[in-house]
Amino acid sequence: MAESLKDSLSFFKDKVNDCIKSKKSISVTTHIDCDGLTSGSIIAKALIRAGARCTVRTSKEFSKTVIDSIKNNKRDFHIITDLAGGFAKELDESLGENWIVLDHHQIPDDEHDNQRVLNAWKYGMDGGTEICAGGMAYLASQALDERNSDLSSIAVVSALGDRQDQGERKSFTGKNFEIANIAKEVGLVNIDLDLLLVGRETRPLPDALAFTSQPFIEGLTWNRDACLSLLNSSGVKLKDEGRWRVPAELNEDEKKLVIESITRFTSGKNATEIMSELIGYIYTFPHEDKRSFLRDGREFSTMLNSCGRINKSGVGIAVCMGDRNRILHEGESILIDYRKMIREYMNIISNERWRISESKTCVMVNGEGIVPETMTGTISSLIAGSPKNAGKIVILRTHGEENTIKFSSRKSFACTSSVNLSDLMRKGAEKFNGIGGGHDAAAGAKITKDRLDEFLNYLDENVVNVQSQDSSQ
Ligand code: C5P
Repeated sequence: MAESLKDSLSFFKDKVNDCIKSKKSISVTTHIDCDGLTSGSIIAKALIRAGARCTVRTSKEFSKTVIDSIKNNKRDFHIITDLAGGFAKELDESLGENWIVLDHHQIPDDEHDNQRVLNAWKYGMDGGTEICAGGMAYLASQALDERNSDLSSIAVVSALGDRQDQGERKSFTGKNFEIANIAKEVGLVNIDLDLLLVGRETRPLPDALAFTSQPFIEGLTWNRDACLSLLNSSGVKLKDEGRWRVPAELNEDEKKLVIESITRFTSGKNATEIMSELIGYIYTFPHEDKRSFLRDGREFSTMLNSCGRINKSGVGIAVCMGDRNRILHEGESILIDYRKMIREYMNIISNERWRISESKTCVMVNGEGIVPETMTGTISSLIAGSPKNAGKIVILRTHGEENTIKFSSRKSFACTSSVNLSDLMRKGAEKFNGIGGGHDAAAGAKITKDRLDEFLNYLDENVVNVQSQDSSQ
């Protein structure tokens, strides 16, 4: 029988305290994305505060090779965050009792009984929407010491980075809601309803509007000139002493003007839907500088996702752990490079039509030769966010290291497919000696190149030709 969350957290606390008492070293291994960097940082910070000896490292994915390298790194105890779902047996075999996983990805049933697996699903929490690895790490940090409640603000970033803001008007639900409220109570985050423009604190207004793709506004999204002319005619002052103003600087009257102009532009078509998506909860860190990319929770999370994806995880971890010196400039330039890369890949994919094949239920995209393996998740999410793919499953593939092919799958908005992408990717990858897993609506897999045709046939049978729940009724 799986134990309760309380029991598991107390097990975690005992293990860590035992390491501290007996001066054992602890390694933290975490994923390279926002949720990985935040969860790893939360745990590392809590361990350091508790007086533990610990080191942190990141990994793009989890595999037996990663387990071997964890084993070889000569630490006494191992904490793995945001990774390792489905690997409990191998971890037991290699590391004995000297490991704990903090995670939120869906796991096979038999892992629920392993005491060392602290996974959201095991405790009745939906790991796709109610809590992520950052939240699990926060709960573990609380078990070590209640004074770690300041780490709740980093857990808010993790939930935003994993797009768990799925409640009404982009609010949080479940544990995420509780954690965000703790951060609010301790004065570390302000939660307000506002315009959800991308780059709230850093992007010039016309750019922010143009790069906002949720909602996708036909004629405005990805069209900076049209956005500039709309904003010019709205009457809102766009520059302040020669400097572009950013969305966070708009006052209530100016926001109303922007909303009215967008409503006029869409000439009423979908205006209600657009507005309901364009207004939602924002999470502001009042202690960060105005116009810094760390002040808005969503921008912070984008920066962390970019760090990992362009192999600069260390910068992200330093920022999460509180470094606000030279490293901040690095974070800023990472964000700029990352955005440039995304634009380039999206342009190539939309210009080279042969890369895309579509069926009624699915969009298959071949990103080989252009999209780096670490960016597949970002690009598949963006493709899934485009309204022309609404209702479909998006599957992007690209070349990975050592003769592998990496797959990244997403359910787009309004997708009613009964296919669980986590099962699809995990079972499919296992069938062809690869690894896969994730969530119902977002999952990934990796196989060797020689199994590509078989894997594509498997996808054909299990997704491309599977009807959506609506159309099959
Ligand atoms: O790689 P991608 O971003 O598409 O992965 C989507 C989700 O699936 C992520 O949360 C990732 O951590 C998870 N995943 C996994 N096991 C894999 C590949 C991806 O749990 N082998």
